[in-house]
Amino acid sequence: MASYEFTLQRTRSHLKPQDKVLEIGAGTSSTALLLASSVDHITATDVSVEMIKIGQVKAAEQGVHNINFLVDGAMVEAVSGPYDVILAHNLFHLLDDLPGVLKRANKLLKPGGLLISKTPCKPQGFGPISYRIMQVVLPVMQLLGKAPFVAMRSAADLERLIGNQNFEIIEACNRPSRYIVSRKTTGKPENSRPSTQQVQQQTSSAGPQSQGS
Ligand SMILES: C[S@@+](CC[C@H](N)C(=O)[O-])C[C@H]1O[C@@H](n2cnc3c(N)ncnc32)[C@H](O)[C@@H]1O
Repeated sequence: MASYEFTLQRTRSHLKPQDKVLEIGAGTSSTALLLASSVDHITATDVSVEMIKIGQVKAAEQGVHNINFLVDGAMVEAVSGPYDVILAHNLFHLLDDLPGVLKRANKLLKPGGLLISKTPCKPQGFGPISYRIMQVVLPVMQLLGKAPFVAMRSAADLERLIGNQNFEIIEACNRPSRYIVSRKTTGKPENSRPSTQQVQQQTSSAGPQSQGS
């Protein structure tokens, strides 16, 4: 709870009353409900209908009216933004196309918008016993169809993937999951940039008149 409260406070410190926020993989929307009074509006999304239903009931019970709930995957095709802040808590390790989701998040954010994430990461060294047990049990559970896809990355690898999609990391800490606040930078997401090889091909086939355009 202390770690949760700490990251909640850190997130709150980045929010403004006029902010439009998108949360992906919101689960039962407990965090969205706690942050709703700090911002103008939150769109809480999750791939699970059941999670979204629970969030809707809790919002009604708590009289929170500035959250709209949406069943959608992490690519959130149903929304167009732009948003001031995107939240993704305990989600990135469950995604099989994290670069694609980061690219999409970048597109949905306003210039200078924030992506705030919390992600369980691979520990340094062998890690605690619970992690080592999970490493053995998880593949078996996955084979039996009882556990989801999980990609445990090091914090450094995760931050590199985020940076590759034109985000600059402005805050990060272990609580114990990796809490990362990153800001959208002005460049284009990595995948939309032509590779060095493509640039060379384009330059040589276009001829000297097109160079520098
Ligand atoms: C570990 S829970 C975290 C919930 C909440 N963000 C929190 O921190 O308490 C992961 C959530 O991500 C959702 N989820 C998993 N894969 C997803 C995907 N591809 N797109 C959207 N949501 C996904 C699950 O349904 C679940 O609610």
